[in-house]
Amino acid sequence: MSWLKRLGGGGALLLFTLLLGGCAFTGPQSIFDTAGPIAERQLGLFMYTFWLSLLVLAFVGAFLISALVKFRAKSPDDKRVPEQVHGNLKVEVLWTVIPVFIVLLIAVPTVRTIFATEVRVTPSEEDLIVNVVGWQWWWVFEYPQYGFVTANELHVPVDRRVILNLDSGDVLHAFWVPRVAGKRDLIPGQDNQLWFSVSEPGLYYGQCAELCLGAHAYMRFRLIASPEDEFQSWVSAFQEADARQVSGDARVAQGAQLYRQKGCAGCHGLAGVAPEGVGPNLTNFGMRTSLGAGILPNTAENLAAWLRDPQALKPGNYMPTLWDEADPNREAEIDALVAFLLSLGADEAEMAMASLGGRDGDR
Ligand code: CUA
Repeated sequence: MSWLKRLGGGGALLLFTLLLGGCAFTGPQSIFDTAGPIAERQLGLFMYTFWLSLLVLAFVGAFLISALVKFRAKSPDDKRVPEQVHGNLKVEVLWTVIPVFIVLLIAVPTVRTIFATEVRVTPSEEDLIVNVVGWQWWWVFEYPQYGFVTANELHVPVDRRVILNLDSGDVLHAFWVPRVAGKRDLIPGQDNQLWFSVSEPGLYYGQCAELCLGAHAYMRFRLIASPEDEFQSWVSAFQEADARQVSGDARVAQGAQLYRQKGCAGCHGLAGVAPEGVGPNLTNFGMRTSLGAGILPNTAENLAAWLRDPQALKPGNYMPTLWDEADPNREAEIDALVAFLLSLGADEAEMAMASLGGRDGDR
């Protein structure tokens, strides 16, 4: 029997090790791999509380184990009862005071961190302000200081305070970029604020962190932090965007026509072509690294698959299937729309690559 027990124990240990192996400290959405002062401060509080709790666990555990060893029955007929301490004033005071002290040790740094990272701030001239609206299941990012709207990819400059005004168009959502700042809810009609700054340029993954039905798990987004000059040229590209100026490429021109004919313009705003609609704004779509609210790299192949059958890639989303399977024009039209969409904001060199399907989504 003992070998069976040992085998069971070994199996449990193996399972536990495998489970722990699933926890990476440097994953793309790891709170342990911080990239900004807010996340750093929150991680500091977490680690402090963790080690303090571990100390309490070790202390209480040591008492428990020593009591179990010291007072165990030495033989089956060992009926000794240890000395009873019920009502001992000294002990009662001690085990009331110590926990109160421990709670204070945690409460004081917690409250200080909350005040340092969570209080509402008044925007100043230098801050970047972005109005964020959550919709089932994608994100509006509006830049009021620069006068344009984009979706699903939030560009910010490094080392500058970013202030997000959070609102929802339908149900509750939550904005969360684990490496940069903690979560904040987007509540219809409630003006929530979240602020942070990013210290290293890079691509950060974000995720809606509030169950919002349907495609909640696919309500992702990307935060792209770049040096100030790169950010400014991204801003200029948006301020100058006008999709009426399509290139001479015949496929791109056909795609531009299809954008209206197939009804894209009814939902997706596009600078110079269509007003803001109920779907993600597609201005400069060719500059996006991802599609479907951050779920796929923005390649010609993925975009074609998305247009062919959006429900297959993101079940439950509100994008209709625009072509009947039997439609003889389907592939040619998808091809043209892909060429048009990827040409938006992309320069000629990138466009040539786009038509070859050679774009890398995760740059
Ligand atoms: Cu939006 Cu979950």
